[in-house]
Amino acid sequence: MELKIAVLPGDGIGPEISAVGVAVMDAVCAKFGHKVRYEYALCGADAIDKVGDPFPEDTYNICRQSDAVLFSAVGDPKYDNDPTAPVRPEQGLLAMRKRLGLYANIRPVQTFKCLLHKSPLRAELVDGADFLCIRELTGGMYFGEKYQDNDKAWDTNYYTRPEVERILRVAFEYARRRRRHVTVVDKANVLASSRLWRQIAQEMAPQYPDVTTDYMFVDNAAMKMIQEPRFFDVMVTENTFGDILTDEGSVISGSMGLLPSASTGDSTPVFEPIHGSWPQAKGQNIANPLAQVLSVAMLFEHFGLMDEGALVRRAVDASLDANVRTPEIQIEGGAKYGTREVGAWLVDYINRQ
Ligand code: IPM
Ligand code: MN
Repeated sequence: MELKIAVLPGDGIGPEISAVGVAVMDAVCAKFGHKVRYEYALCGADAIDKVGDPFPEDTYNICRQSDAVLFSAVGDPKYDNDPTAPVRPEQGLLAMRKRLGLYANIRPVQTFKCLLHKSPLRAELVDGADFLCIRELTGGMYFGEKYQDNDKAWDTNYYTRPEVERILRVAFEYARRRRRHVTVVDKANVLASSRLWRQIAQEMAPQYPDVTTDYMFVDNAAMKMIQEPRFFDVMVTENTFGDILTDEGSVISGSMGLLPSASTGDSTPVFEPIHGSWPQAKGQNIANPLAQVLSVAMLFEHFGLMDEGALVRRAVDASLDANVRTPEIQIEGGAKYGTREVGAWLVDYINRQ
């Protein structure tokens, strides 16, 4: 297969983990005889500094002309601490999602046996937890009409029927390939937008008689996720709730540095870690590259390259088992590995298979 990949390293630790992702992808493609070409493009604070736009037209065009985007992270404290900044790095991410029509964000929450002790939850509670959060990514409050002056401000949680239908369809289809259980997360006891979601979900559920569908208020779901994470199989929710719940979900696994995501929709799909740019760690070779590497696995799987994806996942498991780990998940007294060393180990493992 020939793959053309747009690589968007972005800010902070982005370039370091991006390099590992590309190296792993190269190794797997070489092993399986795939031809892969990369085109690098600017985004985030880096792009603001260089060309004044967090998602430049050039980057958009490169993404459009690629089969997939390998994205790392955007964000820089110099913008976080300046509420008057006319443009911010995060706008680049939102523009990318909107312009590429990436309405479905798939965020898997999984645990790793050897890291159960790293979870803030008791090991017996999280052992075996394995669910997908399907987050609607191009609608809701993030993109609805906004207003702000000195005395009042609002954001509009606007959703239309086609937007809700298409994301629910994604959830039902994923459930069919998993444990056939969809939980629709909303706040239908208070919000009109949620009542529309629930109404449409109730209309669609009979089309998927093989899937058990249940409904949960978001506050209750936040609680259930830490009380009984194994309850969930596929959870589907609106943009804002999904943003919040997936941060909560990510710590279940013990480190935010482990969870990848895929964003799919009308145009080129994007594969990225769920964590941010961690500017404090920039250039220190301490960031965990595994979320980025696992997003490469999701990329392969998206194109039906299941053996390739499985090899990436095996390499990740093997590195964890061999204690080749970045500092935040290193066992006490274990050898020290940085971002680059973990990457080199993964590439070597893949080459030896
Ligand atoms: C995420 C991030 C983004 C979001 C930010 C950086 C705009 O938190 O991907 O979850 O809120 O969607
Ligand atoms: Mn988030």
